[in-house]
Amino acid sequence: MKDLDWKNLSFGYRPTDYNVRCYYRDGKWGEIEVCSDEYLKLHMAATCLHYGQEAFEGLKAYRCKDGKVRTFRVKDNAERLQSTCRGIMMPEVPTELFTEMVNKVVRLNQEWIPTYESGATLYIRPLLIGTSAQVGVHPAKEYLFMIFVTPVGPYFKGGFSTNPYVIIRDFDRSAPLGTGKYKVGGNYAASLFANNLAHEKGYACEFYLDAKEKKYMDECGAANFFGIKDNTYVTPKSTSILPSITNRSLMQVAEDLGLKVERRPIPEDELDTFEEAGACGTAAVISPISYIDDLDTGKRYSFGDQPGPISKKLYDTLRGIQYGEIQDKHGWTSVVIE
Ligand SMILES: Cc1ncc(COP(=O)(O)O)c(C=O)c1O
Repeated sequence: MKDLDWKNLSFGYRPTDYNVRCYYRDGKWGEIEVCSDEYLKLHMAATCLHYGQEAFEGLKAYRCKDGKVRTFRVKDNAERLQSTCRGIMMPEVPTELFTEMVNKVVRLNQEWIPTYESGATLYIRPLLIGTSAQVGVHPAKEYLFMIFVTPVGPYFKGGFSTNPYVIIRDFDRSAPLGTGKYKVGGNYAASLFANNLAHEKGYACEFYLDAKEKKYMDECGAANFFGIKDNTYVTPKSTSILPSITNRSLMQVAEDLGLKVERRPIPEDELDTFEEAGACGTAAVISPISYIDDLDTGKRYSFGDQPGPISKKLYDTLRGIQYGEIQDKHGWTSVVIE
């Protein structure tokens, strides 16, 4: 183990020892290469630089109480990347290649996997880019798929707690028939301005409404939304949000815990009826919401200063599964290091 202050890691980039790379050339994927260089040598006309042929994923490896290191739903991240590839005309990374590279990069950097006690984790960032030169708007012929890892601190340093969010209507991160459902860099570029505005005004993150009608809850810049009422977990159905693997897991856990689950459009004014609300994603699992302000109408939707009991139960259960402490009956976790 590296000698780091594991308890005080931030969610930032910290170099580790190795990354893994695989090149797509002449219509096929090559051998996995192990690399210790943090830099890429890229052609200046590479399609990833000009035409946004760039996709990524985000997942974590957890050092567990039993000493093993586990990953969570890697196959689902592979499949989401494949969906993104189809969406922006890149060759699909096969699930076996994706999984082998995840396992390899985690094992190679095992000294960087934070201690169980710290609550920190090893963040895994797969990245796929078009590398060959084009000046016309066309897909590249050559691609690089790489994965790096970096240790990141626990999302909740002072314990599981609530944050305020804000609906910003002046910006859309994606359109109903656009790329919101894919994990491409352009969606994040589109969210930077509104995200900065939200932070300047003291909110944790910005919420987008559906771009067409500005009526329904879509998602945050980097997390899905859910609300709880009448023993029901309700989450938006929308073509412009990223299909969150955490949200999919929470829907299943909610069902396992005896809640009803509804995936449907959620009109903004329905927020008034939720007993609890949260943002969910790999980084935090659940970030409970204290209130959501609508800056244009001046309306505030409040859900309480403390995380609600159902959000807490969902959070504890999913984290328990990720850390191998609660039975993984859906086969979501994989032991990467025994
Ligand atoms: C836009 C967006 N929505 C939702 C999520 C949550 O997805 P997941 O649960 O797979 O991390 C993320 C993070 O990956 C995201 O970037």
